[in-house]
Amino acid sequence: MNLNLDVDLARRMTEPGDVDAALESAKAEYRRLAALGPDDGDWPVTGWFHCAEAACQLDLIKEKAAEIRQNAEVFVLVGVGGSNQAARAMIEAIQKPGGPRIVYAGNTLSACEVARVLQAIEGKSVYIDVIAKNFETLEPGSHYRVLRAAMEKRYSKEEMAKRVILTGTVGSRLEEIAKENGCTFLHFPLRVGGRYSAFTPVALLPLAVAGLDVDAYLEGGRAMEQLLAKTEGGIAAEYAAVRHALWLRGFRVEMLTAFEPRLFWAEQWWKQLFGESEGKDKKGMLPASMINSEDLHSMGQYMQDGLRILTETFLSVDDPGASVVIQPDPDFKDGFDYLDGMDFANINRAAEKATLHAHAAGGVPCVVLRLPRIDERTFGLVYYFFMVACALSGRLLGVNPFDQEGVEEYKRSMFAALGKGGVKGR
Ligand code: PA5
Repeated sequence: MNLNLDVDLARRMTEPGDVDAALESAKAEYRRLAALGPDDGDWPVTGWFHCAEAACQLDLIKEKAAEIRQNAEVFVLVGVGGSNQAARAMIEAIQKPGGPRIVYAGNTLSACEVARVLQAIEGKSVYIDVIAKNFETLEPGSHYRVLRAAMEKRYSKEEMAKRVILTGTVGSRLEEIAKENGCTFLHFPLRVGGRYSAFTPVALLPLAVAGLDVDAYLEGGRAMEQLLAKTEGGIAAEYAAVRHALWLRGFRVEMLTAFEPRLFWAEQWWKQLFGESEGKDKKGMLPASMINSEDLHSMGQYMQDGLRILTETFLSVDDPGASVVIQPDPDFKDGFDYLDGMDFANINRAAEKATLHAHAAGGVPCVVLRLPRIDERTFGLVYYFFMVACALSGRLLGVNPFDQEGVEEYKRSMFAALGKGGVKGR
């Protein structure tokens, strides 16, 4: 089973010829991306393009994950942005039983949240995975400090070595720390940027700890890689082309809409991918997200009738994975008898179709990406699809989809305010 992309409703709202022209350019960009090697070109960060290259240290990851699942009550995933989003989105969406409680840290500077993490590990058998590409980011660095201090009160040096996993780039300070302390060191490949790290050890260890089927996930990624390779970017190029044609017509926001609340974190991942990759040089569609039907009662009004700068991409799931039938209740006159015998799976589907038609009729260009179900393999398909689409879309826009200079700006001011050595205040 594969993904299915339907762009017809959106294409109708583009200028004639724009999608075809953009598609030709997207395919050319795909060929260029596919031809880049480690030492080629101006993008040294395209190591994610081949899933097999990205997914290193698999045996070590599986072995360590089995140990963690056996020994840990709490597993703390320390990382921010690209260093935690892909794993979190899958863990929260799929939710397999068993294994340790997973706590997310290193993604905030809120004292209250840090205190909650410390509370969560108190008296519990704990393992942590500190993920940081260059190990300069404040959030993971500061959380590692406090977690280390809390754990050192309870664990010997040998136990600490077993319970702390460090994930960073070869040659980084984090690797040195791993060596100095005998910790397991996982590779954050140098040629992969944070938000493109979904198939690397950055995501693979947490997924395995959560009991997710890492092989099925990687198989999904490889299947999409092969499909796109056979079709010069195929549906990823098509999606990039349509959104570019819409951009040219003045559409400035893309709403990613899902009717499965468990896709909330997947939408967060998508927002980070597109926002950080495309929001440059005063360009780029603003990525936004909705979880329906709840958000139909808030953002639904704007989608239907607000400023017409919005496009909408529906993440539609064929098999919701559950069935709940509403039983008739003839003695209770509540006015909902029309629902007798209906399954929530079908009610939700009806709401989704109705929303699609209403928004399209209201002047929103709508794209539908159909997922067979929510499982590991599907996430592999979806992540690879969106990463390629994002890279192509960024190129059509004329920006570098692999850097994030804008993020550095606030960091400079913040580091200066916090008195970090070598950074001058302004
Ligand atoms: O996509 C990116 O590059 C960023 O979102 C990074 O993942 C994020 O800033 C965290 O960086 P690091 O892993 O270096 O702490």
